Amino acid sequence: MLPQEIVRKKRDRQPLAPDEIAAFVAGLTDGSFSEGQVAALGMAIFLNGMERDEAVALTLAMRDSGTVLDWSDMPGPVTDKHSTGGVGDNVSLMLAPIVATCGAYVPMISGRGLGHTGGTLDKMDAIPGYASQPDKALFRKVVREVGCAVIGQTADLAPADKRFYAIRDVTGTVESIPLITASILSKKLAAGLQSLVLDVKAGNGAFMATKKSASGLAQSLVAVANGAGLPTTALMTDMNQPLASAAGNAVEVANAVDFLTGRARDRRLEEVTLALAAEMLLAAGIASTHRQAESLAGNALSSGRAADVFGRMVSALGGPADFVEKYQTYLPQAPVIRPVKSGKSGFVTAIASRDIGIAVVALGGGRTKPEDVIDHAVGITALAPVGTDIAKGDALAIVHARNEADADQAEAAVHAAYTLGEGRPRMPRPVIRRIALSS
Ligand code: URA
Repeated sequence: MLPQEIVRKKRDRQPLAPDEIAAFVAGLTDGSFSEGQVAALGMAIFLNGMERDEAVALTLAMRDSGTVLDWSDMPGPVTDKHSTGGVGDNVSLMLAPIVATCGAYVPMISGRGLGHTGGTLDKMDAIPGYASQPDKALFRKVVREVGCAVIGQTADLAPADKRFYAIRDVTGTVESIPLITASILSKKLAAGLQSLVLDVKAGNGAFMATKKSASGLAQSLVAVANGAGLPTTALMTDMNQPLASAAGNAVEVANAVDFLTGRARDRRLEEVTLALAAEMLLAAGIASTHRQAESLAGNALSSGRAADVFGRMVSALGGPADFVEKYQTYLPQAPVIRPVKSGKSGFVTAIASRDIGIAVVALGGGRTKPEDVIDHAVGITALAPVGTDIAKGDALAIVHARNEADADQAEAAVHAAYTLGEGRPRMPRPVIRRIALSS
């Protein structure tokens, strides 16, 4: 099947047949379709869309481009969560141990930061000694013995997505619902899960800025995942302000440990984390009602058992055995720590979250090129949430920078990202709505 014929068909708005999609994914994986042909088809899909059946076929073909894991030997349900990406979104670090504490198995294969959003893998890499790319035997052992393992994507998992994503990234075709759907779900299906919960972010710090576009993505993800045989629900959550009060890598790990141990817990982060945990417990069949699921998740957290599971996971993957107790001595610290003081008083009415994410990237906490080495120590903490009553001279946030010049830049970015007003703003709910197959 000639690549150009497949491109012509989609260019002319005709649906692709499963064998044409399979030929495209084979050519994408073995390199026999040139970068130009892949980019042209990506753009044709971006412009003309895909029918549901086409998106399912693309997702399945991309799943089958590499290894598909099998967890059928685990003694309990195997489940995971995937977020479409945000700022200060360290939910996975708490969620995996909470859900594992309740009896599920969570093999969480996570990605690096993308654009202005942070990546779970980069955060875990801030922990000294932690093997975020273990071999399969160790990965399985930790999932079985501890209940969860948060690791990085391996090269043999959905390799078609790896090449397609890199080409989409530089050809303006990332923000396409069928392409995002196939990209995310091919990896999750290859991970061999038995159920999945999606956290679809909507707002100025998400890839989908409006509720309408986030809803379209959520519907597509839920329909295609279920169509591909993976029971999946989604929560749409607010990303019009950073979710945690920290954005960066080591600083988000510290925030997560404080959350787990109860030393400090950001309110919106807690609401989203417990809502996702309840959703996962329902999907995994561990709870039969929402109330029961919430209570199980809440107990896992308040009893300290989830913090214990997190500590055991870190240690089983090579990190310090006393990480939860002494994380401050292990996590890298930035040399310059500077509060960003407000020049005026007022209520925080809006935060340009994407700009906070970009400020973290500019500090060195994210990448501008795939080969960049990130600085795990830098970031922004104590981000005042929307609704905070700020007096002149109060800190809007604290910048953690490698040097004074970087701190100057980040300080200016924080000032620019915050809007202060006179009236107390309406407080948006962090969980916007649930999307299931029939909704
Ligand atoms: N995350 C992915 O894994 N793929 C996309 O296309 C977008 C976000």
